[in-house]
Amino acid sequence: MSRVAVLADIHGNIPALQAVVSDIASQGVDEVLVGGDLVGRGPQGSEVIRQIRRLNWPSVRGNHEDYLLTFRRGEVPADWLEADEWSASRWMADELTPQDISYMQRLPLALCSQELPDLRLVHASPVSTSDGIGPWTTERRMRRHLDSIEQSILVCAHTHRPLHEQFADGQVVNVGSVGLPFNGDRRAQYAIFEATDGATTVEFRQVDYDLAAILKIYETSGFLAQGGVTAKLLTLELENAQPFLVPFLHWASTLGVPPIAEQIDTFRDFYDPDEPMRSFLRRLEGASGRDHIAWDPDGR
Ligand SMILES: [Fe+2]
Ligand SMILES: [Fe+2]
Repeated sequence: MSRVAVLADIHGNIPALQAVVSDIASQGVDEVLVGGDLVGRGPQGSEVIRQIRRLNWPSVRGNHEDYLLTFRRGEVPADWLEADEWSASRWMADELTPQDISYMQRLPLALCSQELPDLRLVHASPVSTSDGIGPWTTERRMRRHLDSIEQSILVCAHTHRPLHEQFADGQVVNVGSVGLPFNGDRRAQYAIFEATDGATTVEFRQVDYDLAAILKIYETSGFLAQGGVTAKLLTLELENAQPFLVPFLHWASTLGVPPIAEQIDTFRDFYDPDEPMRSFLRRLEGASGRDHIAWDPDGR
């Protein structure tokens, strides 16, 4: 019997990571893998990297590792180095050490489990670090992703929503998010895979942690004061376990509203995170007078 834990999307949230580390310690696992997005969307990216390295848990690279590497190289449009909308990204890129940067650069795009050789881990999907597999992904598309790899268990993250699709000859599993879940459950989430007698089962785990502690770190670290509108929207995401940042940016750009903190209340009058995204987009089309609005549910 082999047991493998997979955690992902920690997003600079040490209280959430520590809760999951303790939970894993009580679960008798043989191997732990990390699905990327250690950094970004949170103030403790450098510390998350330090702890994951100390634990010696292998990780793949997420799109947020890529974003912050791009920021550190200065390979972003000139206004991103000035705009309030991007101040949180600048802050998060700045707090990384040279060791963090070289670690992030070395992360692979995919990993296979040593204990469960049928398990292949990627951040979002086998084709990209930002093409996520979520509740909106069709069975046909999941089937195509599964057929594109040699292993029978495709494990991913990125959408911050746990998901399990069982096929006759394999499975697709999204392990959810440790530090910033979007499934309405604020607890830190991950999954344990167990192989017995040729079959692999999945247990999704939800771990309580001190949400007030990470919100306090937002303040004491300076992230909330210096991270502009993004840091404020991230606190709403933590408190509600639902997306606010990407819908806000989409709402602002569609309506031609400046994406600044003063607009958050107006946005909240318009946006209901429980409303299906399709219906939100339809209302946004109506409000903007446009016929069609392109939408990337994963966003930034
Ligand atoms: Fe993520
Ligand atoms: Fe991601």
